[in-house]
Amino acid sequence: MPYKKVTLYEFGGPDVLKVENIAEIPEPGSGEARVKVLACSAAYTDTLIRRGIYPDVKQKPPITLGYDMIGVVDKVGGGVDNLAEGDKVAELTILGAYSEYMILDAKQLVRVPDGLDDVDALSLILSYVTAFQMLTRLAKVQAGDSVLIHGAGGAVGNALVRLGAAMKLKMYGTASGSHHDRLRDLGCEPIDYKKEDFVLRMKSYAPKGVNAVFDAMGTDHFKRSLKVIANHGTLVAYGSYNSTSSADLIKDFLRVSLWDLLPWLPSTAFYSIGAWHRKHHDWFKEDLLTLFQWLSEGKISPEVSHRMKLEEGLKAHELLDSGQAKGKVVLMIGGQ
Ligand SMILES: NC(=O)c1ccc[n+]([C@@H]2O[C@H](COP(=O)([O-])OP(=O)(O)OC[C@H]3O[C@@H](n4cnc5c(N)ncnc54)[C@H](OP(=O)(O)O)[C@@H]3O)[C@@H](O)[C@H]2O)c1
Repeated sequence: MPYKKVTLYEFGGPDVLKVENIAEIPEPGSGEARVKVLACSAAYTDTLIRRGIYPDVKQKPPITLGYDMIGVVDKVGGGVDNLAEGDKVAELTILGAYSEYMILDAKQLVRVPDGLDDVDALSLILSYVTAFQMLTRLAKVQAGDSVLIHGAGGAVGNALVRLGAAMKLKMYGTASGSHHDRLRDLGCEPIDYKKEDFVLRMKSYAPKGVNAVFDAMGTDHFKRSLKVIANHGTLVAYGSYNSTSSADLIKDFLRVSLWDLLPWLPSTAFYSIGAWHRKHHDWFKEDLLTLFQWLSEGKISPEVSHRMKLEEGLKAHELLDSGQAKGKVVLMIGGQ
C-alpha cells in the first residue's frame, strides 16, 4: 500500500520540503511497531534541522523532519508484548514524523491515555516536556517563585507560561505586543522586547532578581538575562533562536556550561530535550504521563496556533520562519 511523507534532499529554505509518494508501507522488524501517524508538530526546531544548523542531528539529506508525533499502532513485529494494534502512542521522534507511517522501537513508545484530544496530547510532547523539565528538574521552582520567560508568546514560551500558571509562579515574559493580552490573562506580566530593555524593566519589577530565567535567544541575550537573576537563582538556556550556524549553538552551549563553574554567577544550565530523551528516557516518560494527567484534569490547556495538512509542510515552515505562529503549529495526518 502506498503512503505519503515529506522529504528534503538538500538543506535550505521551506521550498526544499517535497511531498513524496512511497510505493509500499514498511514492515516492522523484531521489537518494532508500525505506527499510523495522526498528528505531528511543525516546530521552530525543525526549521533549524531543515537549514542544516541543528547540532543534535548529524544525518545528511535525504531526511524527513518531524520531532514528535501521536499515532496509532498499526502492526507490531516479533517479540513486542507491551503494545497491540490500535493502541494510541506518543514519541519524541526527532526526525521522521512528517509521514503517514513510521517504524519505531516499541519499548520507547508512551501510551496515550483514553479520552485525550489528539492535538492537545501532541502539544505536550516537544514544547511542554521541554518546559516542564526545565521548570521542575533544572530550575526546581516552587509555588510563589518568580520567573522571567523570554519568547513567552512562542510554542515553548507559551507552555512555560501555562505550566507556570498551574504551578502558581509569579511570571514576567518578553513578547511582541500582539501576545500581551493573552499573557496578562494567564497571569504573566508582559514586556515588549521590541520597545524596551527587559533588564531595566525587570530592575523595577524585581529589584532583587528572579528565581529563574528561561532563555532560548542565545549569546549576548544570555549575558543580559544573568543581570536579572537573584544570586541563588538559575539561568536555563535552551536554544539560540537568532543563530545562523551550528557553531553558534555549540559556542552558546559551552559558554553556559563554563559560567556554571563561576561561583559569583547564578547557576546556569543548557537544556536539550533530545539529549535528555536519550539519557533519561524514564524521566521523559514520567513527565509526559504527568502532563497527560494534568491535561485530563483540566490543569493545562495547550494553545494551538495553526492546524494544517501534511501536504502543507512547506507553508507551515514559511509561517515558522516569519515568526507568525502564536503557539503550536500542528500537521494533521491520516485524513483527520
Ligand atoms: N533545548 C531544547 O530542548 C528545545 C526544545 C524546544 C525548542 N527549543 C528552541 O527554543 C526556541 C523557541 O522554540 P519555539 O518552538 O517556542 O519557537 P516559536 O514558537 O517560533 O517561538 C519563538 C518566539 O521567540 C520570540 N522572540 C524572538 N526574538 C525575541 C527576543 N529578542 N526576545 C524575546 N522573544 C523573542 C518570538 O516572539 P514574538 O512573536 O513575541 O515576536 C516567538 O514567539 C527555538 O530556538 C527552538 O529551537 C529548544
